[in-house]
Amino acid sequence: MLAGCVDEEIVFVERPIFDDPPAGAQGFVGYSDLNTQRTVCGNCHVSRQARWEETAHANAWETLQASDNPQAFCEACHTVSERGNPVEGDAGWVATGNPRYYDVQCEACHGPGLDHVTTPDQPGSQPLATISLGPNADQGCAECHSGVHRPFAEEWAASGHGDMNPSPQGRAACQSCHEGKGALRAWGVKSIFSPEDDAELQAITCAVCHDPHDGSNQGQLRFAVDAPVVDQNLCMKCPSQRGTPDPISFRGPHAPEGPLLLGTGGWWPPNLEYSPGDILGTHGTEANPRLCAGCHVTDYSMEDPETGSFEFRTTGHTFQATPCVDEDGRHTGASDCDLMERSFQSCTDCHGSEAAARSAYIVAEQRIENLANSLEPLLDQIPEEEFGNPGRYTTADGALFNLQLARVNGSATHNPFLVEALLVATIRQIQLDYEVSTSSGVSLELELGQSH
Ligand code: HEC
Ligand code: HEC
Ligand code: HEC
Ligand code: HEC
Ligand code: HEC
Ligand code: HEC
Ligand code: HEC
Ligand code: HEC
Repeated sequence: MLAGCVDEEIVFVERPIFDDPPAGAQGFVGYSDLNTQRTVCGNCHVSRQARWEETAHANAWETLQASDNPQAFCEACHTVSERGNPVEGDAGWVATGNPRYYDVQCEACHGPGLDHVTTPDQPGSQPLATISLGPNADQGCAECHSGVHRPFAEEWAASGHGDMNPSPQGRAACQSCHEGKGALRAWGVKSIFSPEDDAELQAITCAVCHDPHDGSNQGQLRFAVDAPVVDQNLCMKCPSQRGTPDPISFRGPHAPEGPLLLGTGGWWPPNLEYSPGDILGTHGTEANPRLCAGCHVTDYSMEDPETGSFEFRTTGHTFQATPCVDEDGRHTGASDCDLMERSFQSCTDCHGSEAAARSAYIVAEQRIENLANSLEPLLDQIPEEEFGNPGRYTTADGALFNLQLARVNGSATHNPFLVEALLVATIRQIQLDYEVSTSSGVSLELELGQSH
């Protein structure tokens, strides 16, 4: 007999909620009712149970059985076993073959719960899941989400989100975006993590973007990717740090992508006849419903053109829009390759071909670069005392911000119309406010066309 009643999520129960686990299970309790998919844990943690039922993890066994070739070696990842948690050696399904361990249930990530369900309040009994992937990206979620057919962890480890080195995670002011637990905290996720997680700073790991207990957004994401609102969109919650000037710090743009795509970024010269939000990026509209993820998270597989057999898959978890690839189309991991060595595969859902997307990209980049190159020498002619005066944000300060914005990697794709309009108006504003002139002869008519 068990009882537990602590917070609103935990429900009082008066009946045995589980049969003793079979020998060899290593303390995993699994389902208490296979037919309704009620986990033993879910008898008390009722709201987590309800939300977990909506996730693909709750269908993992059925999916496997419905597939072309279910085999024994597939099963450890589609059940509760030693995968995904600290237990070593055969456990759960793998040790017992008992159907109570079908699906990726709570304990797949939290580890065995027998001690906890017997004495829920016992300090230290609670099986805490980790958000860490371990030093080699081979623990936690990665124990299942890796390998040639599903290289999520490998790609993630090679991405900026998996890289702890260049970023300033140690500083409190930066942690809300540059550290995994810091981001969760900033978003109001008040979890207790496993003790190792608490001691260590974490990169932006899987469970930062994905909520393992919530299937209400596509892909178990914590926030939707299709919301055109900076603080509701998963991908814009961090890349929106400084999209518009901060008149106190005078610093340049920092991760300005969200505001740019949505038409609010940049310094707006007084002569610019639009208002923030008027000039949306094409890709910030319904033309591109997945917004940032539409270009930056693209999952595709490649088959051998002759045999049709599986060659490789890329899950989009390097988060690069136009990754550097080798001649077979495999990511090389580099980020400084030539345009012709980049894959534009992520654009082909909408643009007829990679070549079409690539040339659209080249046109937009070129126009922005020409304008930026005309603005730069004008800035050199403005007296230095016009820059960075406390209490006075000048045209010179704004112009410098816009020049830097134009040169942020990707700006010409994120919103070429806005960047162009800002640069043109900035050049005009400088000519109005200071006695300088441009000799470059670049056209100050808007050329890329006009969005709305
Ligand atoms: C008999 C009811 C009951 C069952 C069954 C149960 N829990 Fe709990 N669980 C609790 C209670 C009560 C607490 C709060 C304990 C405390 O605060 O001291 C708790 C706390 C936790 C915590 C720590 C979070 C917190 O808010 O303190 C985790 C994680 C957890 N349970 C996971 C699980 C998992 C995984 C299972 C299934 C193996 C499970 N629980 C089964 C009652 C239960
Ligand atoms: C025990 C193996 C295992 C572990 C551990 C595991 N997963 Fe999964 N995951 C699966 C399987 C199997 C599926 C596919 C289920 C299906 O499609 O029926 C899946 C599916 C998913 C999906 C697709 C969701 C959807 O609705 O389409 C996401 C996202 C996901 N997992 C994220 C995670 C994250 C994040 C973690 C770690 C916190 C994790 N998984 C841990 C095995 C695992
Ligand atoms: C190392 C762990 C692991 C093994 C082994 C594994 N799977 Fe999965 N499987 C996953 C994960 C994780 C997902 C969900 C993520 C994804 O690939 O999109 C998944 C998803 C699936 C899906 C649904 C997605 C899809 O591709 O349609 C099917 C079907 C599937 N697996 C079948 C199999 C079969 C058949 C085998 C054995 C030949 C197998 N799995 C072996 C981890 C595994
Ligand atoms: C609101 C979220 C957010 C905050 C807060 C934040 N950053 Fe960033 N930062 C980002 C994002 C997103 C990127 C990557 C995108 C990019 O390079 O445009 C980034 C990139 C960086 C880079 C790499 C830039 C490069 O060009 O390679 C450095 C260095 C950096 N941040 C420093 C800091 C420091 C120092 C702080 C604290 C004072 C900080 N960040 C606070 C979101 C943030
Ligand atoms: C795919 C992996 C995965 C699955 C499946 C999963 N969890 Fe979790 N759980 C985590 C991770 C990672 C965290 C910490 C991050 C968070 O809160 O989202 C966590 C957090 C929790 C917490 C909060 C701990 C705290 O300190 O507040 C509870 C309680 C919990 N899980 C219970 C459950 C129950 C009950 C189920 C099954 C119905 C379940 N989990 C299924 C990975 C998982
Ligand atoms: C920076 C945020 C972020 C991180 C970190 C992240 N993902 Fe994702 N993941 C996404 C987005 C965005 C999608 C695309 C969802 C969509 O548009 O359907 C996605 C999709 C997925 C899917 C496919 C979901 C589906 O519906 O088919 C799986 C599985 C998955 N991620 C697993 C993982 C795993 C495992 C890790 C860690 C190794 C991870 N993710 C890290 C953002 C992230
Ligand atoms: C139309 C496709 C597209 C959309 C939509 C898009 N991007 Fe980009 N993004 C690119 C391209 C192209 C680049 C530059 C080349 C590259 O890095 O692949 C880029 C570059 C970036 C970079 C710099 C990467 C680096 O390595 O320096 C970040 C950060 C970024 N985008 C974030 C975002 C965010 C956040 C959103 C949504 C607000 C978004 N992007 C929307 C195509 C897109
Ligand atoms: C979901 C659909 C979609 C995706 C994905 C997409 N685009 Fe577009 N893109 C459009 C539409 C619609 C237009 C406007 C009509 C046109 O010019 O073809 C457009 C226009 C453009 C333009 C012209 C300037 C502008 O912003 O209108 C460029 C440059 C461009 N896309 C680059 C890219 C690149 C590079 C990628 C991939 C990294 C990409 N697009 C992915 C739908 C998409």
